[in-house]
Amino acid sequence: MESLVSRAGTLKKQFKLRQPWGVLSGAAVGLLFEKPSTRTRTSFEVATLRLGGSPVYLAANELQLSRGEPVKDTARILGGYLDVIVARVFSQKTLTQLAAYSGKPVINALSDTEHPTQAVSDLLTIKEVKGRLQGTTLAYIGDGNNVCNSLLLAGALTGMNVIVASPEGYEPGAALVRKAKSLAKSTGGSIDVVRDPKDAVAAADAVYTDVWVSMGEEKEEDTRIRAFKRYQVNSALLRAAPRRAIIMHCLPAHRGLEITDDVLEGARSVAWQQGENKLYGAAASLEFVVK
Ligand code: CP
Repeated sequence: MESLVSRAGTLKKQFKLRQPWGVLSGAAVGLLFEKPSTRTRTSFEVATLRLGGSPVYLAANELQLSRGEPVKDTARILGGYLDVIVARVFSQKTLTQLAAYSGKPVINALSDTEHPTQAVSDLLTIKEVKGRLQGTTLAYIGDGNNVCNSLLLAGALTGMNVIVASPEGYEPGAALVRKAKSLAKSTGGSIDVVRDPKDAVAAADAVYTDVWVSMGEEKEEDTRIRAFKRYQVNSALLRAAPRRAIIMHCLPAHRGLEITDDVLEGARSVAWQQGENKLYGAAASLEFVVK
């Protein structure tokens, strides 16, 4: 994780200098998306181009997958054409099937359980602003979802202190928290799950939030909004955080729900830097799987 973040920072400098780096020269990168995406899709497409490869966008609803062709059959066919598959899927099981049957590297561009390339870009952003990862404290406020899971694992791997505050019933899964705690033991980091968002932000170097209602959860929208009401990242919550705390959001944001407009647009928000850094996180991830 540390080398991915560091490599993402190096590629950022190279991309800005327009230095060519053809690690994907001659390679075709398939972008199989079951769900909409602005940042992840575009950043992987551009990263592929910048690294000398050719992106092939595959909307799942335009493939035979949408008419019932099994993932394992699709994977074997795509594996014959493509060198890397980047996939955004509803179920992690789809990713493991793609990986098992395609014979090619598969990058998780978001599943129901994790969003790992988002975490690479987020940690790059923290490192840029704070100068280090080890020992920094990240407070994640809200849903213990895929983004939260990947931050727990990435933070644990890099010696960060990650504190999650979620309402009852929306905490990150116990098995994942155990795994993150075990990883943190070997890196000097720490993992905590608390109830009160003010406790979580009290020593934060970064305060992070994400949507309360992800795709596929729309039926639960009213219940979720009621459950998360106390977990909005707003100026009142930030009064409980140190002034050094930066504000993070993986976007898209829902102003007035998980975050207020003044906080997202405020001087401490690094959401737009995070968004840009997705390009370099994508590039480092692509390079990692083909080198
Ligand atoms: N943060 C993120 O994954 O954004 P997209 O859904 O636009 O890819």
